[in-house]
Amino acid sequence: MAFEKIIVLDFGGQYAHLIARRIREAGVKSEVFPCSATAQELKALECDLGSKIKGIVFSGGPSGVYEENAPECDPQILDLGVPVLGLCFGHQLIAKLLGGRVEKGAGEYGVAQLEIRKESPVFEGLDARQSVWMSHGDSVVEPPQGFDVLAGTPECGVAAFGNGSIFGLQFHPEVTHTENGQKMISNFVLEVCRCEKNWGIEDFAEKSVLEIKKQVGSSKAIIALSGGVDSSVATVLGSLAMGKNLTAVYVDNGFMRKGETDFVKKTFEQHFELNLIVVDAKERFFEAVRGVTDPEQKRKIIGCEFIRVFEEEARKINADYLFQGTIYPDRIESGSSKHSSTIKTHHNVGGLPEDIEFKGIIEPLTDLYKDEVRKVGENLDLPKQIVWRQPFPGPGLAVRIVGDVTPQKVKLLQEADAIVRETVLRYGVEDKIWQYFAVLTGTKSTGVKGDSRMYGDTVAIRMVESSDAMTAGFFKPDWALLEEISTRITNTLPEVTRVVYDITHKPPATIEWE
Ligand code: XMP
Repeated sequence: MAFEKIIVLDFGGQYAHLIARRIREAGVKSEVFPCSATAQELKALECDLGSKIKGIVFSGGPSGVYEENAPECDPQILDLGVPVLGLCFGHQLIAKLLGGRVEKGAGEYGVAQLEIRKESPVFEGLDARQSVWMSHGDSVVEPPQGFDVLAGTPECGVAAFGNGSIFGLQFHPEVTHTENGQKMISNFVLEVCRCEKNWGIEDFAEKSVLEIKKQVGSSKAIIALSGGVDSSVATVLGSLAMGKNLTAVYVDNGFMRKGETDFVKKTFEQHFELNLIVVDAKERFFEAVRGVTDPEQKRKIIGCEFIRVFEEEARKINADYLFQGTIYPDRIESGSSKHSSTIKTHHNVGGLPEDIEFKGIIEPLTDLYKDEVRKVGENLDLPKQIVWRQPFPGPGLAVRIVGDVTPQKVKLLQEADAIVRETVLRYGVEDKIWQYFAVLTGTKSTGVKGDSRMYGDTVAIRMVESSDAMTAGFFKPDWALLEEISTRITNTLPEVTRVVYDITHKPPATIEWE
């Protein structure tokens, strides 16, 4: 079945992919392309895949349109004869390309009150006053000739313009802070682009299995299975497409949580008919990170070592392809878009070495967010304890130990982490917390144990609420829960003299400490 789709051109904004996701939530297929894609390339794509492009959205971006090196796009995209919607930077770029005027202004950041001044299909069904989310320095002060000003805010006279098929919105309808943003996006794709509402996450597994079959044919592949929801869902999709031609490889790198390897082995042997290999690679990983203190280097070394282990396993069974459970936030934070910045190198993306032996890497979940992956997992009937597991980073406890990583430190952290997990489960609050774990901070502090002075380790507890890991807020647990964690850790782990609670949101902190 050929799907109609909307293309999102990525100008480097953190939200480019969120736009695609909102379009999918409106029931229409959507894909993100770099802003360098030309009108010709987009047309060619349509022919290749047989899926009709019904509209294009220009994303926001970190630059101003007149800045040196600001991203541009092929102006012919505006002549393709399909509706275009520009958001924030995209709104300003359309104005610039079509002869409107963009100027430096006072800027607006956060919620703004929008007044809709002229009827338009994008605002169909909405009240004249809307709460919207802004984040811009420059502003469009005059729309291109032939375009109407559709809405404004007290600070921004041209917060929306349009001519029936090309529209610009200065604000971000894709973020939840814009109250009716989803309705505006649905209006654009359904009313302006006239797309059929026929895409849903329910169809994802079926289409993904077909695509994998097409890609790998009768070749063999291995999948990096960590036991988290992402790699588990990717494993099930791969095995539905390839059967026994797929082998799952679980690497015990020594940085796993207490009991993790047994859990993964048992769960997968019990629930799935899979070739599963468990590789004990503890020694080589410890050796590889010995003395390394820089977090980015640690991540890269671990990513590289993972690939080497997988290559060795692949050689043994003649596998050509490597599957990974990479999801979208892994990519965006690893700086996958040319104009976005690298936040940290996720081991399964930016941590890969350049010289890999595989014919190809297959990442069926690369466009999805975690909650979408969980929906796919539920649709595939994966056990609840897998679908709702808290996320765990590929480099494992190594990025929760600040400074160099040793087997003794890992052992200590495993015990502290197990106490956090057990206590959270006993208080029955696990469903409210996105991630909860312990960190070995690398800071020594003075304590008194027995009647003696002790200069010991400081353990931090991190618990965050989130829906997609792109942003997170620190969780506010009962004092009793924290007290119990702290007491158990200091009582049972003689090396620890202090336990602290991390009260930082993301941003500015990231969820993991390294
Ligand atoms: P940060 O620390 O960037 O984490 O706020 C966002 C989410 O990603 C997880 N994370 C990783 N997952 N490989 C992964 O598969 C990695 O290298 C990695 N680093 C962080 C983190 O646990 C959180 O859920």
